[in-house]
This record gives sequence, C-alpha cells and structure tokens, in this order.
Amino acid sequence: MIRNILTLIKHSAKHKNITIHFTPSDNEIAIHANKNEIKQVMLNLLKNSFEAMPSGGEIFIGTTQIPLNGNSFVQMTFTDTGPGIQAENLSDIFLPFYSTKKGHEDNLGLGLSVSYGIIRKYHGTISVENIDQSGCQFIINFPLYSNE
Ligand SMILES: Nc1ncnc2c1ncn2[C@@H]1O[C@H](COP(=O)(O)OP(=O)(O)O)[C@@H](O)[C@H]1O
Ligand SMILES: [Mg+2]
Repeated sequence: MIRNILTLIKHSAKHKNITIHFTPSDNEIAIHANKNEIKQVMLNLLKNSFEAMPSGGEIFIGTTQIPLNGNSFVQMTFTDTGPGIQAENLSDIFLPFYSTKKGHEDNLGLGLSVSYGIIRKYHGTISVENIDQSGCQFIINFPLYSNE
C-alpha cells in the first residue's frame, strides 16, 4: 500500500526536489484497518512534510514489526529533513484546527487531528519527536494483524 502511494506522489516529489526513501520490513506485515483511511493518514503526513520543505529535502519511511508489552505491533515511521516542530507546539499539533500555516486556505489544521482519530479507531498510537540535526519523525504503532 505504501508503494502504491509513493507511485502516486513521485512526480510531485521530484518536482519539489524531495527524495523519498522507503525501507519496508523484510516480511509482509498486515494491520486491520480501512485501506482508504490509512491512505489518508499517509497522505496527510506526506503533505505536511512537503509543506515543511519548500526548497526540497528528504523523507524516510519505514515499516517494521516490533514487540511491545508482550504483543506484536506494526511500526511505521515518517521522517523528514524539514525544520521540525517548535517545542512549544509539540503538544498542540494533533488538536483540531491547530495550524501554523495561517493564510493557506487549504490548510485548516485538520490533517493531524483527522489522522489521530483514524489511528485511534484501529487501536493505534501516533507520536512525534524532533530529530537531532533537523526535521521530525512521526511514529505510528498498530496492533499486528495475524490470522493465526
Ligand atoms: N513534518 C512537519 N514538519 C514541521 N511541522 C509540521 C509537520 N507536520 C505537522 N507540522 C505542524 O503541525 C501543524 C498541524 O498539522 P496539520 O494538522 O496537518 O494542519 P495543517 O497542515 O493544515 O497546518 C502544522 O501547521 C505544522 O505546524
Ligand atoms: Mg497538514
């Protein structure tokens, strides 16, 4: 699914001087969720990274299976080389209508709150942290779906 999304946005990324690196997990991993909603989450994150890097940069996407408290989770990470998020805004960015992009009428500050709602609906979590040099990383965990 991530590969499909990357195919969709690759021209736009190239046009904006953004390189996207995808490191999928070695084995196939599945989550139990509506595909269109998860696609929406990924597009929201990618759109934010694009907007954070108006003169280009890099995006790193990874998926991996991790153990947490005795259960298996699918972890997806989205990292960009933009300016990151100011410390005082870190706790607000998932709130509805929170945006630092005033004046852009298509940015209503709903992307992350809608994403948060979708992720919670499927018992997942989302968190964000700034990374050392520059940029930020969003970390999403979903319970692993297994039919065993
Ligand atoms: N990758 C990112 N880099 C820097 N800031 C970000 C990033 N993603 C989100 N943000 C911050 O979080 C805020 C909320 O994001 P979002 O809910 O998508 O609303 P919007 O994009 O409409 O402003 C943004 O206005 C921005 O300040
Ligand atoms: Mg947004």
